[in-house]
Amino acid sequence: MTTLIADTAMLEKALVEAASGVEKMLDALVVVPDGREAKVFEAMRYSLFAGGKRLRPLLVLASADIFGVDRTQALRVSAALECVHCYSLIHDDLPAMDDDDMRRGKPTLHKKYDDATAILAGDALLTLAFEILADRETHPDPYVRTELVATLAKASGGAGMVGGQMIDLLAAEHDYTEQDIFRLQHLKTGALISFAAEAGAVMAKASDQARRSLKGYAADLGIAFQIADDLFDVEGDADVVGKAVGKDASAGKATIVSMLGIERARAQAQILADQAIEHLANFDDKAAVLRAVAQFAINRRT
Ligand code: IPE
Ligand code: IPE
Ligand code: MG
Ligand code: MG
Ligand code: MG
Repeated sequence: MTTLIADTAMLEKALVEAASGVEKMLDALVVVPDGREAKVFEAMRYSLFAGGKRLRPLLVLASADIFGVDRTQALRVSAALECVHCYSLIHDDLPAMDDDDMRRGKPTLHKKYDDATAILAGDALLTLAFEILADRETHPDPYVRTELVATLAKASGGAGMVGGQMIDLLAAEHDYTEQDIFRLQHLKTGALISFAAEAGAVMAKASDQARRSLKGYAADLGIAFQIADDLFDVEGDADVVGKAVGKDASAGKATIVSMLGIERARAQAQILADQAIEHLANFDDKAAVLRAVAQFAINRRT
């Protein structure tokens, strides 16, 4: 019990630190210019500063801390990843996709602005992510910068998040098995989480074994995190989670929750969180924050 309270306090501190660090970095990186294109930058900032949990930035920082990576460099990678994450949510909320009006307790970007601006803000955030990673200030070694760019590109694209979103959109039309849904979640949510957890190892040029352990951790964490999100959709309160609930069922989308029921889905999420933690056995106390994140991913309220 005492350990649990200590873990919660440590995680809360780490989340606050990650949020303030990545927000300062994003504030410096996304500056509204003069000229009419200012509108797209304002829209990007609307999404970036809407109050996300900053879980992916925290994962990048926690992974970087295992290997003693420079904090400013790790914050730049966190900022790049948060740009891709925000882009994915802006496009996910569009009428052609999930058609959502609320995100993080505020109007979605296309509601606040319009569909075309939302598409452009998403495009600009995605491309900005790679501009940030490719900059010398992110890492002095060009090999590492290329590796960061290639790894994030793969995690974001058709073989990663975008591929998962495609499979997700087809979920209403096909009879998916449990394995199909695990794969969908692994891609749409797990891929970016995997980049986050691996990023520290890439920046530190850590061993393949360390990288594999972090990937294994993230694979389980990503699915557990998405099961928790799917549980919100079934039993959450829109005012608390900050977005509409009941959407998956009304769209006829099969999820692990619709397939297993609430209790078994929750049990599955706990099994995955425990498995995620097992992958960190070689890291000792250095991975304390990553362990706490695994529990937070399934116990969170938003
Ligand atoms: C929401 O992600 C989309 C999913 C992949 C489930 P988060 O729950 O991390 O969203 P924010 O950034 O905290 O709002
Ligand atoms: C979206 O999953 C995951 C992304 C890759 C954007 P959801 O559609 O379930 O996310 P929410 O519930 O809208 O945040
Ligand atoms: Mg969606
Ligand atoms: Mg959605
Ligand atoms: Mg959801």
